[in-house]
Amino acid sequence: MIDKNLVAAPGSPDRALLDALDLTRLPRHVAVIMDGNGRWAKQRRLPRVEGHRAGAAAVRDTVETSARLGLDALTLYAFSTENWKRPKTEVSTLFTLLKEYLRRELRTLVENDICFRVVGRLDGLDGSVRSALDMALEATTGCRGMTFSVALNYSGRAEITDAVRSLAREAAAGRLDPESIDEAAVARRLYTADLPDPDLLIRTSGEMRISNFLLWQIAYAEIHVTPVLWPDFRCRHFLEALADYQRRERRYGGVSEEDAAEVPPAPAALEA
Ligand code: IPE
Ligand code: IPE
Ligand code: MG
Repeated sequence: MIDKNLVAAPGSPDRALLDALDLTRLPRHVAVIMDGNGRWAKQRRLPRVEGHRAGAAAVRDTVETSARLGLDALTLYAFSTENWKRPKTEVSTLFTLLKEYLRRELRTLVENDICFRVVGRLDGLDGSVRSALDMALEATTGCRGMTFSVALNYSGRAEITDAVRSLAREAAAGRLDPESIDEAAVARRLYTADLPDPDLLIRTSGEMRISNFLLWQIAYAEIHVTPVLWPDFRCRHFLEALADYQRRERRYGGVSEEDAAEVPPAPAALEA
């Protein structure tokens, strides 16, 4: 049962947004491409890393709102395999900020029964980052509430490639009949194997692209792009994204209920 007062104070503008939502039709899984930290800093004539630092508050707000709304899963894109192309100091600051975040927030995650997860190629990460992640994974392993995944050193194409390699290995070893490989078999070998596919994908900072995020899983996700830069993203922007989601009609390639009920035109009308 959602305690609305924990999500938004009565009488606040956020509360009006919350009250307008249908709480029985929330997405199960929301994925977010957190973008615009650099531009946020630039607007303030600050170094780019200050944008990343400010982004931690948006992460906290988004995790808290998602957990309080009772979502099953939240996945945040924090570092792509392509992000290694950035200046060394920016990359190292990003990982330092991640370690700081985990140190500061781990207790809150556990107290709120939030299960922490990482998706991406962990073996490509530095030892100190790995141990901070391991500690968080271990501490929240018994948590049964929302699954909070952070995509780190993540690439959707690399994830699918890894899954294909694992299928090929099993087939070559004679443990798997290639003819039996179906979509579920592929999905089971992705990092997100036990999670529902994202229903809603949010991207901040206005960019209209996917940037190699969850390519398989977002096949039918609804996409919400907001011009808000990530460090400014707060509960109300999340609630606005949910309202946008609830205005969509998810058809999965079919037709709307209304169109399905349409009386077919008489054959004469078709010929005319
Ligand atoms: C997102 O902000 C953070 C990461 C990709 C790690 P950016 O750093 O990409 O910010 P912009 O796009 O340059 O504004
Ligand atoms: C996507 O943002 C990656 C993350 C949010 C971690 P980028 O800023 O790296 O993406 P592009 O370069 O605009 O596609
Ligand atoms: Mg960017």
